[in-house]
Amino acid sequence: MHCVPCLSNMKFNEALTLLLVSLVGIAIQGCHGKAVQFIFGDSLSDVGNNMYLSKSLAKASLPYYGIDFGSGLPNGRFTNGRTVADIIGDNTSLPRPPAFMDPSLTEDVILENGVNYASGGGGILNETGGYFIQRLSLWRQIELFQGTTELIKNKLGKQAAEKFFQDGLFVVALGSNDFINNYLMPVYSDSWKYNDQTFVEYLMETLQEQLLALHNLGARKLMVFGLGPMGCIPLQRVLSTSGQCQERANKLALSFNKAASKLLVNLESKLPNATLKFGDAYDVVDDVIRNPYKYGFNNSNSPCCSLGKIRPALTCLPASTLCRDRSKYVFWDEYHPSDSANELIANELIKKFGFLGVNAYVPAPAPESAIAPSPHE
Ligand SMILES: *[C@@H]1O[C@H](CO)[C@@H](O)[C@H](O)[C@H]1NC(C)=O
Ligand SMILES: *[C@@H]1O[C@H](CO)[C@@H](O)[C@H](O)[C@H]1NC(C)=O
Ligand SMILES: *[C@@H]1O[C@H](CO)[C@@H](O)[C@H](O)[C@H]1NC(C)=O
Ligand SMILES: *[C@@H]1O[C@H](CO)[C@@H](O)[C@H](O)[C@H]1NC(C)=O
Repeated sequence: MHCVPCLSNMKFNEALTLLLVSLVGIAIQGCHGKAVQFIFGDSLSDVGNNMYLSKSLAKASLPYYGIDFGSGLPNGRFTNGRTVADIIGDNTSLPRPPAFMDPSLTEDVILENGVNYASGGGGILNETGGYFIQRLSLWRQIELFQGTTELIKNKLGKQAAEKFFQDGLFVVALGSNDFINNYLMPVYSDSWKYNDQTFVEYLMETLQEQLLALHNLGARKLMVFGLGPMGCIPLQRVLSTSGQCQERANKLALSFNKAASKLLVNLESKLPNATLKFGDAYDVVDDVIRNPYKYGFNNSNSPCCSLGKIRPALTCLPASTLCRDRSKYVFWDEYHPSDSANELIANELIKKFGFLGVNAYVPAPAPESAIAPSPHE
């Protein structure tokens, strides 16, 4: 493989280090040019899109969102610090893609950094999150991405643009809102049109069409994130009479994960030259919630940012009070994990994806043979 420099004249340790660096680098970047990410998601991945939606009721534009990120001012992330996608991208040295709605987004910025289309309140289904008035559903995010492909085609020409998108890493991370802000709320018609099984089937049919649409638009490396134990977010607990996790919501998350995992395996076998990986952090988050102390947390059932006894608080506000040590809380607000919890989730996903699919993306000679010490040393 021409991408890995010749190893035979190097000392073993140097060769090993270089190989590891190369493998990770190649997995992410391919051999030519720099790979970037395209992120499709909801509030767990939003880095500012909703701040630009003037009528949206789902915004992280007030303190204390972002208090542990950069300047500490709100930046559109629905947490105190980094999102899971931030942490995974950082881990593999991929640039953090800016929000699609950011007015400074240009072709050059896209070529350097990719784009993040994620939007708080968004779901796989168009009807999800309707009461937030404005949010970008996954279909809408894909339409916006189509616009991005046109832009890049005009800039680079068809062939180079195709290569650019084929090398890109596509993250798709939605689904929680389809339950929490749709199916599990009686105000939405999906809650009475479907049952637990048929609703998950409906989500899978839709997600399949969406992944095929992305593939059609040139995506070849796709990662889909599964759901956590969403019945244990503080909002769901406070809505249950016992204060315990809502087992029905947790079961739905598990059946979503199972079905999505199957869908991805099936699609990967059908789509030429594409890798589609699925990973979730359900088990580890479930364990953190049951045994917070084991992981260095001190609270796993209430939000760090809250309006005292007023629960659910819906959002974090300047009038809210913060917990004393933000790194000890699993949840930042009623819905969203804290930076520390996101780190734990990201590390689990990194493990599950196996360094973002190094093995899948590198048509490499077996590492064992490549790192064998040279007899000429
Ligand atoms: C990436 O994540 C892995 C697994 O959690 C960790 O061991 C490693 O130190 C991280 N690397 C970087 C550069 O963040
Ligand atoms: C969902 O919304 C998109 C626009 O974002 C539209 O093109 C599509 O037809 C809608 N799909 C359904 C099933 O309503
Ligand atoms: C898959 O990739 C190979 C090598 O890049 C290429 O020759 C082939 O045409 C591709 N197949 C399809 C169906 O895109
Ligand atoms: C954990 O929380 C309890 C009260 O819930 C408090 O007394 C204790 O000091 C906290 N420990 C740490 C390490 O923050």
